[in-house]
Amino acid sequence: MKKNILVTGGAGYIGSHTLVELYNSGYKPIVVDNLSNSSLNNIKGAEQITKSKIDFYKLDCTDFEQMNKLFEEQKNIDAVIHFAAFKSVEESVIQPDKYFSNNIGSLEILINLMNSHNVNNIIFSSSCTVYGSPEFLPVNELAPFGKAESPYGETKQLCEKLIQKSEINSISLRYFNPVGSHPSSLIGDCSADKPNNLVPIICEVASGKRKSMQIFGNDYNTPDGTCVRDYIHVVDLAKAHVMAVNHILNNTKIKTAYNLGVGKGLSVLEVIDSFQKVNNLKISHALGPRRAGDVEKIYSDNTKINIELGWFPVMSFESALETAWNWEKLKNL
Ligand code: UD1
Repeated sequence: MKKNILVTGGAGYIGSHTLVELYNSGYKPIVVDNLSNSSLNNIKGAEQITKSKIDFYKLDCTDFEQMNKLFEEQKNIDAVIHFAAFKSVEESVIQPDKYFSNNIGSLEILINLMNSHNVNNIIFSSSCTVYGSPEFLPVNELAPFGKAESPYGETKQLCEKLIQKSEINSISLRYFNPVGSHPSSLIGDCSADKPNNLVPIICEVASGKRKSMQIFGNDYNTPDGTCVRDYIHVVDLAKAHVMAVNHILNNTKIKTAYNLGVGKGLSVLEVIDSFQKVNNLKISHALGPRRAGDVEKIYSDNTKINIELGWFPVMSFESALETAWNWEKLKNL
């Protein structure tokens, strides 16, 4: 019988890509999402790709009663992947309470319900932001949590600690910078809020939605002066979730965290340059001041997940930029 995986936030960008990979690997995903910053189109897209019907509950994870009903109805949940959370660094600075109550509140409810319904495995959507500004690069999982650069970052640290303290088996996946879309262009980033991330902003310039973009600072201690990040294709990222589920279901007493990045740093200028080359477009950009809270450079040591889960990135950065642009074009039709 297929194993049931409850996916909170499954109608979102990373969640929807993970639904497809779960299904393709023989799991039965069950989605819960309040659609506040995601879209039913991602569920429909995932259904089209997998040619299957996906169980979907339009629910808010902070609604204890409704979530309890779901756990009662779906008696055999084997593991939970918890994506549902607010994710804008900028917004978290303006409305920190919104981030603390939603991101932490939903996890508390989930842990509580998992305990009472005997569901013992959770994969948590974390972020490299937990490291703050790491002392050594590439950063590995032994690095301590750094000073959180934003309330969003703080919620990720607090959630990892909450999970650590619980009795539940857990894997926290610390994402570096996810980019790109499924090659079908049937699922992608449907966030309702204005994009803050680099590649979606480049795409908006390409589509004419924005006239130009700013590079946030070119006086950093990096080869070309702009910030360095580790960009990972969302399909590779989604596949890592399936490997984490395999691992947690086949082992007992797991409490661990993995970096999820390709292990290579790219500067902002390199990303813009690659996007222009791959998609044969000109991206109008100007140098601007530094953005508050930005880390100068961060990229991953992914050895731990290579060795323990056998995960390696296989998708190219170029294909991420191509599919990101394809998604943007279709989204605007
Ligand atoms: C940050 C977090 C990441 C989190 C994500 C959520 C860190 C190191 N990373 O990503 O964990 O999941 O927020 O949104 O804290 N840039 C420009 N111009 C723009 C937009 C971005 O120059 O218009 C630059 C930024 O300054 C940065 C790079 O592009 O250097 C990437 O920015 P972004 O895509 O926003 O991601 P992070 O800030 O790295």
